[in-house]
Amino acid sequence: MAALPASQFALVATVGTSFRSILIYALSATVALIVVHWLARAAAPRAQRADRQPWTAWERLVYAGVLSAVGVLAASAFGAIGKGETMSGWPLMLHMVGAGVFTVALPALAVTWSAVHLRANRVANGARFSLLARAMFWALLLSGLAVMGTMLVSMLPWLGTHELEEMLDAHRFAGLAVVIVLLLHAYAVLTGRRR
Ligand code: HEM
Repeated sequence: MAALPASQFALVATVGTSFRSILIYALSATVALIVVHWLARAAAPRAQRADRQPWTAWERLVYAGVLSAVGVLAASAFGAIGKGETMSGWPLMLHMVGAGVFTVALPALAVTWSAVHLRANRVANGARFSLLARAMFWALLLSGLAVMGTMLVSMLPWLGTHELEEMLDAHRFAGLAVVIVLLLHAYAVLTGRRR
């Protein structure tokens, strides 16, 4: 591989370092937010919960597919970044397996749940998910499209080296957004209070 000019190498190194810090701060802040909210909720008097419509076996399967794919993708990519390395070897292989599952599971999630997240349907059937869960569902679809799109566009013979670096950087941030949004979504559906 041709060596990068000094200025470009400095740019790539700076982006990598700042992403690592952003990753640590953003994930810590999300987990802290969830814990604080959960503690505040546990201390507050219980609101009456409407009867929950149970998840079908298909809905469970699709959601488990998204959760496990994102878990593998995040562990393989963020693990390498945490160690200050770039992904290679087994982590890269795992990332590709996770990517395959994610590209099937996300459209399946969209087909399964988009209708119940639409306003008209919500009014007709009564809200099945909380406001946070509904907002995070759409954010998950958007950030999921971005994470896949950045890599799919990178495979086309349109971009030069600099544009490919920018796409990889966009992919990192889109991946971080997917992880945060899915953590919040999972928290919202697990605690399950509806408004
Ligand atoms: C939540 C989902 C995802 C997350 C968090 C994520 C995160 C990342 C991160 C942080 C990197 C850079 C690793 C490094 O700097 O060494 C990366 C690289 C990569 N990702 Fe993902 N990714 C996700 C989904 C996907 C998907 C769906 C695909 C394929 C469609 C994909 C394909 C790739 C490829 C090919 C690379 C290597 C790029 C290169 O080194 O040139 N990722 N991913």
